Amino acid sequence: MKIDYQTVTTIIKNSKNAIAFTGAGISAGSGIPTFRDSNGILSKFDPKYFEIKYYLENVAESFGAIKEAFYSHSETKEPSVAHFALAKMEEIGLIKYVITQNIDGLHRKAGSKNVFELHGTMSEMICMNCKKVFPLENENILKSDIPLCEKCDGILKPNFTFFGEALPEYDLTSSINVTGKSDLCLVIGTTGIVMPAAQIPYIAKQNEATIIEINPKKSNYTNDIVDIHIKEKADEAMQEISENL
Ligand code: APR
Repeated sequence: MKIDYQTVTTIIKNSKNAIAFTGAGISAGSGIPTFRDSNGILSKFDPKYFEIKYYLENVAESFGAIKEAFYSHSETKEPSVAHFALAKMEEIGLIKYVITQNIDGLHRKAGSKNVFELHGTMSEMICMNCKKVFPLENENILKSDIPLCEKCDGILKPNFTFFGEALPEYDLTSSINVTGKSDLCLVIGTTGIVMPAAQIPYIAKQNEATIIEINPKKSNYTNDIVDIHIKEKADEAMQEISENL
């Protein structure tokens, strides 16, 4: 079915409080694997490595798997067309906030300023003892089998949300707050499976926001709350939208 981008861009231009809710699919165009597609991260790595209890009891094994799953892309990843398109939409006042589940930092790298990272970031390490946060510029940390805090010798972990951990308080409450005022939510590249992050589009819908989904496949949202499903890859769809704004 032909996608009516005219209608989509009119809705975006007429919105007053549009937000974007993104998942791994928006970074597929940057060459980063998603979690649940075939060949995704969860098809190669046991989810136990991303569980906080298992990590703390098996640091060397888990940290080794995490480095392979997330840090092994030798070249640094660049933002996709879709990341840049969202940043441009924020710059011209069409998108107020990006709420992402992704830990790759590519929204900010593309120029988005108002970004909430519901699952934290892979670009920092946090000490599980003294809670000091270290930016991961220090490549030596990735060379160690068991990353230790230089301040207190405690165990370090990547500063993204492991299964079994609470989401970062500030990002979660701020995201819920801005979503409750949204009149449009672009849902880009997510299965909508992992709560509590996945509640965001439902909160937008409760606020009678229009829900526009960009995803080549159906998600948990598609038949439930989505008003317009653009069955396309994020880069292609956002390119079309950008050109019509
Ligand atoms: N453009 C748009 N969407 C895409 C593309 C693309 N090029 N490629 C894949 N997708 C879609 C898939 O159809 C799928 O719906 O992106 C989604 C990826 O889903 P998941 O792999 O489940 O990723 P996500 O929804 O972000 O996972 C949420 O689960 O494992 C946890 O913490 C992790 O943040 C992650 C959370």
